[in-house]
Amino acid sequence: MNRRTIRPGMWWLGAIDWDRRLFDELIPLPDGTSYNAYLVVGSAGTALIDTCDPTRTAQLLRQLAEGPDPDVVVIQHVEQDHSGSLPAVAERYPDARILCSPKAHSMLVEHLGVDEQRIEPVEDGETLSLGDRTLEFLHAPWVHWPETMLTYLREDRTLLTCDLFGSHLATSSLCSSSEERLYAAAKRYYAEIMMPFATSIKGHLERLQSYDVEMIAPSHGPIHDRPSTIVDAYRRWVLDPPGNRVCLPHTSMHGSTALMVDHLIAALVERDVGVAAFDMASPDLGAYAAALVDAATVVFATPTVLAGAHPNVAHAAMLTAALRPKLRHAAVIGSYGWAGRASDQIQSLCGNLKVEWHDAVFARGLPTEETMAQLDRLAADIAERHRELE
Ligand code: FEO
Repeated sequence: MNRRTIRPGMWWLGAIDWDRRLFDELIPLPDGTSYNAYLVVGSAGTALIDTCDPTRTAQLLRQLAEGPDPDVVVIQHVEQDHSGSLPAVAERYPDARILCSPKAHSMLVEHLGVDEQRIEPVEDGETLSLGDRTLEFLHAPWVHWPETMLTYLREDRTLLTCDLFGSHLATSSLCSSSEERLYAAAKRYYAEIMMPFATSIKGHLERLQSYDVEMIAPSHGPIHDRPSTIVDAYRRWVLDPPGNRVCLPHTSMHGSTALMVDHLIAALVERDVGVAAFDMASPDLGAYAAALVDAATVVFATPTVLAGAHPNVAHAAMLTAALRPKLRHAAVIGSYGWAGRASDQIQSLCGNLKVEWHDAVFARGLPTEETMAQLDRLAADIAERHRELE
């Protein structure tokens, strides 16, 4: 694919990866992804901002060969899907300076073997003049690594954000063409990548309010030419209280837990509580993560295996804990044969979540009328607590 003009003197470079279906051997990519780099040409210099995944290095070098040669390469984030082509770019352009945050300096050496003599750390707020264009570097730690920074093109009123505001979305559209499709992809992306760092993002959103931004150019997915849409969405995801929804990851071996799940869903729906249920035997983990963004409650439903939680549901618990959503309430329901400590195990896996745990509901074998009555009480309790949140 050829490079594409964003505006005079500013190009999109990189690759659209239509076929990639997994990131980090964990995150599903149902819509593929892209690795966006940007070439910015001023009257007195040229900057390449980010590179791309190492699998697409040849394409990036071909796009760069059209010139002008970069005088500086700005690395906003060391993760290899953006920096992986840097060693080849540095070799092809031996006079180009490599700029990054101070924290990225050693990481570029450790992760990519870049010659440390070539690397120049830049301070937060430092600027680089390309003549009629100015780059301002904004340190933005923990979106989502500690070394990340953003780049503001002052004269273009354009913010280059690397992973922040990105989406795993392969599309031929340079800018967002379908708000609905982009919103769904961006929400999944936020849930999978950014949600654990919501506190840091809150600070960055506040800081960015003082910048006049007409365009946001992330390093995955389409460019935002109406930036308020994605910024407002981030504000909601980060700042709004969780909604009247329950996430229900579940699995069942012989049907007892499935009966309880069905009953609990009906009891919640009767009480006007939204439910997103996920069969963890074949889960779409991205959809599960996205559902956690604005749910107030998670209920884990598990049978007992060898005295503990089913590994499928334990996986959901580990993932939930890692993503650190805004949940306020949690519960465990399920079944067992003769003994078990599945509820304690799930609570332990989610020890970092600041949630109120409701009484667990477990059935020995098939659920009884009393089990279903307990699930009704759990649903009523959740509905009541959700009303308090409103
Ligand atoms: Fe898209 Fe953190 O890399």
